[in-house]
Amino acid sequence: MADSKTLHDVFVDEMKDSYDHEKQLVKALRKMASAASHPDLKEAFTSHLAETQEQVTMLEEVFAMLDLKPRGKHCAGIAGIIEEGNEAIEEMDKSPLLDAALIGGGKRAEHYEIASYTASIAMATELGLTDVAEKLQAILDQEVVCDGKLDELAAKLLPLANAANDDADDDDSFNSASSRGKPAARKRATSTR
Ligand SMILES: [Fe+2]
Repeated sequence: MADSKTLHDVFVDEMKDSYDHEKQLVKALRKMASAASHPDLKEAFTSHLAETQEQVTMLEEVFAMLDLKPRGKHCAGIAGIIEEGNEAIEEMDKSPLLDAALIGGGKRAEHYEIASYTASIAMATELGLTDVAEKLQAILDQEVVCDGKLDELAAKLLPLANAANDDADDDDSFNSASSRGKPAARKRATSTR
């Protein structure tokens, strides 16, 4: 039954998945930017939001190159990653600890995208769709840069998250390292006098 499918069909399905995942990420990045505390992290999410909107347009151009109307197909993979990120946003107050969780969520999304575009570029190349492969490569390059930026931000911001945990340890000897810092975040956010 499924053997009538071609590699081209599988590739088009990948494009539908990507078109949907980018649209989901437009919404998610808006939320992540407003949940971030550190201005550098906020800026990183905001500028990748602009890139992601641009990527939606680039994928529409890919559909045009394939003589197809742009159509998405629900991407359950990115939906799960976004859901996990939303849980952190709901459970934690704005703090360096939430910033640490947001960096983790951002990296999970970027790696999903990097895997997805690497696979679809290989398919486009195999199918002889050189122009399409180049367009997808331009998107992949943005994802790789964003992932690297998140690594730089981790090096800069994780010490702040760790220090926030130390502050809470001073107040509460029962706040062990395994508590994932949640009490520290709460304490911090509620002690604004
Ligand atoms: Fe993207």
